[in-house]
Amino acid sequence: MSAPACPRIDGERLLASLDAFARHGAIDGGGVCRLALTDADRHGRDWTVARMRELGMTVTIDAIGNGVAVYPGSADLPPVMIGSHIDTVRTGGRYDGNYGVLAGLEVVATLRDAGLRPRRPLAVAFFTNEEGARFQPDMMGSLVYVGGLPLPKALATAGIDGSTVGEELRRIGYAGTAPVGRPAVDSFVELHIEQGPVLDQRGVQIGVVEGVQGISWTEYRIEGVSNHAGTTPMEMRHDAGHAAACVAVFVRELALRYGGRQIGTVGAIRFEPNLINVIPNRAVFTVDLRNTDEAMLARAEAEVQAFAEQVCEAQGLSLLHTRLARFAPVAFDPMVTGLVQQEGEALGLSMLRMPSGAGHDAQMLARVCPAGMIFVPSVKGLSHNVREFTEPADLVNGAQLLLQVVLKLADRP
Ligand code: GLV
Ligand code: MN
Ligand code: MN
Repeated sequence: MSAPACPRIDGERLLASLDAFARHGAIDGGGVCRLALTDADRHGRDWTVARMRELGMTVTIDAIGNGVAVYPGSADLPPVMIGSHIDTVRTGGRYDGNYGVLAGLEVVATLRDAGLRPRRPLAVAFFTNEEGARFQPDMMGSLVYVGGLPLPKALATAGIDGSTVGEELRRIGYAGTAPVGRPAVDSFVELHIEQGPVLDQRGVQIGVVEGVQGISWTEYRIEGVSNHAGTTPMEMRHDAGHAAACVAVFVRELALRYGGRQIGTVGAIRFEPNLINVIPNRAVFTVDLRNTDEAMLARAEAEVQAFAEQVCEAQGLSLLHTRLARFAPVAFDPMVTGLVQQEGEALGLSMLRMPSGAGHDAQMLARVCPAGMIFVPSVKGLSHNVREFTEPADLVNGAQLLLQVVLKLADRP
C-alpha cells in the first residue's frame, strides 16, 4: 500500500498570519522593532500564545520566557520541536524569526484540519531574546533551555538601556513557571529566511543548512583624556575616539585579508563626551567576528585584541574588553539535513547546501538533539533592515517543506 499523500499547508492563511504579525512593533518603511522584552515583543507574544491556544495546543512559559506549545502525538514520546524567535533588532524586517514560529503554527493547523496525529507530539516554540540586540548574549532563551547559560545569570543580564532580563520579563508578564528545558526534545527544525544573498543570486528555492558559523562578540572600552580640540597639539593627545576608529578599520581589513568565510563588523560605537570640539575621553564599541572555521576565528580574535592593546599603549590609553557572546561553529545532524534534502527533492524544489551566516536558536538545540534548518531566499540578501523581503511563493514552499520534514521525523519508528 502506498503512503497517504502529505496534506498541503494553507498558503493564504500563512501569509495572512505574517501580515497580521507585522503590525506588532511596526515602524516606518514596512519593518518592525520588537526588541526583546519590550511592549512590542509582549504584543507579539500575546498574539502567538492566543493563536497556539486557538489551535488547541497546551502552552507553557518557562522562567526565561520561552513559550512552548504542544500538539499531541499518538505515542507518549518526546516531541519534534519547530522553533525560532519573535524578537527583532531595532530596524528589523517582517520575517526574521517569526516566520519560523508562524510556519510551525501553520503546520499544526494543517494537521489539525486533516485530522492527523503523527506518532510523536509536535512542539512549536518561541525563544526569548534570540537577537541579542538589547541583551547579550544572543540566542539567550534557547541557550538557557539547553543548559548552556545558568538561569540566574541570564535573568541578571543588564541590557543597553540598563534594565535587566528578569525585571523586563516580570514587567511584560512572561516570567513563567514551567521548568526550563522541558519538554526534552526528540529533534528540532527551524525554518528561517536566509538573510543573505546566496539563494536569491543563484535563483535557488531552498537552502539545506549544514551548520552555523562561529560567533564572537566583544565590547571594547578605551579610556583617554578629553581636552580642547583646538589647543591640544596632535602629539599630546590621548584620543580614545581615534584609537577606536583604528580598531574598526583593522577589523575590516583583517576580514578582507583572511578572506574565505571571515566576517568582521564594528556595529555600535559611542564616544564621550561626543562633542565636536572635545577630544573623546572614552570610546565604547563592539566587534562582531564570525567564521565557519574555529581556529581562524580564534586567530582573528587574538589579532584584534593584540592590535587594540598596541594602539592603546602607543597613545597612552587604557583598554578594557568584555566578551559578550562566543559560540563555536555548529554542524547540523545529517539525519535532519538528509530529510530536508529528501523532502525538498520530493517537492521538486531546487536546493543548495550551505552554512548559515547568522546565529539561530537551532544551533543551541543542536547541543541536545538532532537539529537542522531550512532557508528560503531573501530578496537582494537584505535582513536586519526594514526592507527585508521574501517572495510569498518561497514562504509557502518553505512551510510545506517544514511540514513534510517534521512529519518524517515525528513518524520515525
Ligand atoms: C543574530 O541573529 C545574529 O546572527 O546576529
Ligand atoms: Mn532570526
Ligand atoms: Mn536576526
